[in-house]
Amino acid sequence: MKTIILNGSPRKSWNTAMMLKEARKGAESAGAETEYIDLFDLSYTGCRSCLACKRKGAERCKCFWKDDLSPVIDRIFAADAMIIGSPIYLGDVTSQVHGLIERLHFCALSYDDYSNYFSGRVDVGVILTMNAPKAYFDLAYGQKAKEMEQVFKALNGSVEVYACCDTLQVNDYSRYNMADFDADHKKEMREKQFPQDLENAFRMGARLGGGR
Ligand SMILES: Cc1cc2nc3c(=O)[nH]c(=O)nc-3n(C[C@H](O)[C@H](O)[C@H](O)COP(=O)(O)O)c2cc1C
Repeated sequence: MKTIILNGSPRKSWNTAMMLKEARKGAESAGAETEYIDLFDLSYTGCRSCLACKRKGAERCKCFWKDDLSPVIDRIFAADAMIIGSPIYLGDVTSQVHGLIERLHFCALSYDDYSNYFSGRVDVGVILTMNAPKAYFDLAYGQKAKEMEQVFKALNGSVEVYACCDTLQVNDYSRYNMADFDADHKKEMREKQFPQDLENAFRMGARLGGGR
């Protein structure tokens, strides 16, 4: 069983990465072979509309643009499970994650009848991290989570979305112009809530890495 893990945060050791590394441990504990990729290390853009994937006779589910992302797209389609994490930036996933979604989705989409070229199955876990507390997530970002669920259904597997809320954004709030945040509350969330989030990420990894 192969699980591919994609970090859509530019920070390689903060909240999103910590959650994903825990998910990776979970997947490996269930016997999965894992690959971990920091998307911000790769050089790519969103879809360039070259339409090579729509050419008659073109191999299906293949992004033909020559950059760092196309081989990753090949490996996602070949995996048993994918776990992708993103911080929420301005109410959305990061631009790297959005670019990946465009290209993954578009090369599997038929422009003849809007059916799905992809006939395999990849189970998907999405981890979203954010400043917003859970209540605000439910109110404002729940729709985004549903959209993520919908978009990854194109991989024909199960899709689960986990919201890791009220994260610690910096270690020392007193050094930044971030007066809107209650530093004591953030520290408390990091000490009490975040360990539970990490445990849930481990469990997600174990579920997805363990296969069907
Ligand atoms: C450019 C930028 C935009 C952000 N926008 C939001 C937002 O709209 N809502 C929110 O809840 N948090 C927002 N945040 C906070 C991050 O989502 C949060 O700190 C996240 O846990 C960071 O993940 P990381 O530690 O893996 O980098 C934003 C952070 C940055 C840098």
